[in-house]
Amino acid sequence: MAPLPIVLYNDPVLRAPAAAVESLTPELESFIADLFETMYEAHGVGLAAPQVGRSIRLFVMDADVMAEDEPDAPRFGKQVFINPKITAVGPAAVDFEEGCLSIPDLRESVRRPDQITVEYRDARFELRTDTFDGWVSRVIQHELDHLDGVLFVDRVGSFKRRLLQRKLDAIDQGQYVPDYPYVPRHG
Ligand code: NI
Repeated sequence: MAPLPIVLYNDPVLRAPAAAVESLTPELESFIADLFETMYEAHGVGLAAPQVGRSIRLFVMDADVMAEDEPDAPRFGKQVFINPKITAVGPAAVDFEEGCLSIPDLRESVRRPDQITVEYRDARFELRTDTFDGWVSRVIQHELDHLDGVLFVDRVGSFKRRLLQRKLDAIDQGQYVPDYPYVPRHG
């Protein structure tokens, strides 16, 4: 296992709709292990395959650290989502600050449904349908967006987005360097 370099803002792979996963091969299992290692090394709570340059519909998540101050919050541990699809959303929408390992040093509040139901294949490629709330729902929606070429900065209002653009351009120009392995832009 080895941590993989993470691609940064404006890399075209982050904008491409990712391809469905056909089957779970030993090579893919090894890739999933690498994705987890990459995520932990970068202190992330979720990481999507396109973020390491592989345009397939798969992401990993371990959001338990976000529940540290909430003893009653559910803990899911390491989770793999393959070919995930949101099949229902709850009525409530909430604002919460998000960040992204592909957009270092930038956080912004994003409004999303508080509850989602997701159909997906798990780490054993078994089909599951589960409903998630709160933190975990938020991470899943953020990571699922990556599989459709959508970034959280696309979901902030146009005024805020204009304020963020200078920072985004600076990331694209290599002026922000994360403290985890990454793919240099225009390198
Ligand atoms: Ni992200």
